[in-house]
Amino acid sequence: MATSDRLQLKVADLHCEARDVMVLELRASDGAALPPFTPGAHLELYLPGNLIRHYSLCNDSVERDRYCVGVGLARDSRGGSRYVHQNLRVGSTLATSTPRNNFPLELQADEYVFIAGGIGITPIMSMIRACESRHRNWRLYYCARNRQRTAFYEELRSLAPERDDPRLHFHFDDEQDGRYFDAAAVLAGTAPTAHIYTCGPEPLMRAVEAATATHPQDRVHFEWFTAAAVDTAGDRPFTIKLASSGATYEVPPGRSILDVLEDHDLGVPYSCREGLCATCRTGVISGIPDHRDSVLTAAERASNREMMICVSRAQSEVLELEL
Ligand code: FES
Repeated sequence: MATSDRLQLKVADLHCEARDVMVLELRASDGAALPPFTPGAHLELYLPGNLIRHYSLCNDSVERDRYCVGVGLARDSRGGSRYVHQNLRVGSTLATSTPRNNFPLELQADEYVFIAGGIGITPIMSMIRACESRHRNWRLYYCARNRQRTAFYEELRSLAPERDDPRLHFHFDDEQDGRYFDAAAVLAGTAPTAHIYTCGPEPLMRAVEAATATHPQDRVHFEWFTAAAVDTAGDRPFTIKLASSGATYEVPPGRSILDVLEDHDLGVPYSCREGLCATCRTGVISGIPDHRDSVLTAAERASNREMMICVSRAQSEVLELEL
């Protein structure tokens, strides 16, 4: 089934969960138990054409016999979601990573607020399942373009069957007369002890960011789909030093540390090259990074102990890296 952290899995089931949303159920072909995962985790799918795509696990993390991932068909698909929707069938085999988690659920919180936009519901589903099994207080605000595109609608409704259940709130764009989801209004009065988890398109994430500016930042959690725009106009060259060999290389403007390492045939694991997946996370021995990723928490950034070398640069002249 596995070589190191790579798995060969079988598509045991697939079904359309909502318009342009497919859920894949992946199992070991011999029925063996799979490596465990935690709520908020994702898999990398290794697709033809050297495509690597990340999809969040949406099933209950207590399950050890299957992984379920939700895949939304991206309107501007660069091949990944289109391949999944058009080519995979029950019985297909698929290479994946073992589960990884850049969006972990704090299991000891008293209260959880979840905000999902579109396919951003997938990691939230595994979190809600964990809350349910632990009898934790949660509430969900789920934004979608319309009901037809709302994955897991029936399942969520079954968790909160009363129409006025305060745990479950839907915002369908086409039923709101053009009114946007008002993150500031729904989060007003949220207890400072609550943990807030958000996954969805950038405008929703930015709105929640603004609405949670005064909430304790270690209790606000984001899973980004897209990289933040970065102003590169002031980029200047810097030097990296590799701890293992002492070799030094200059990183010019317009090239990433990862690019420069590859130029010198120094292979480093990577996936998204956009600062979203944490595959290229690298330890920093000395120097000050200029963090440009969407993965590290504020505390991790402040510590300057790690960086994503696919996008982040340096504030100092030299960075010594654990490579
Ligand atoms: S390769 Fe994904 S964060 Fe660097």
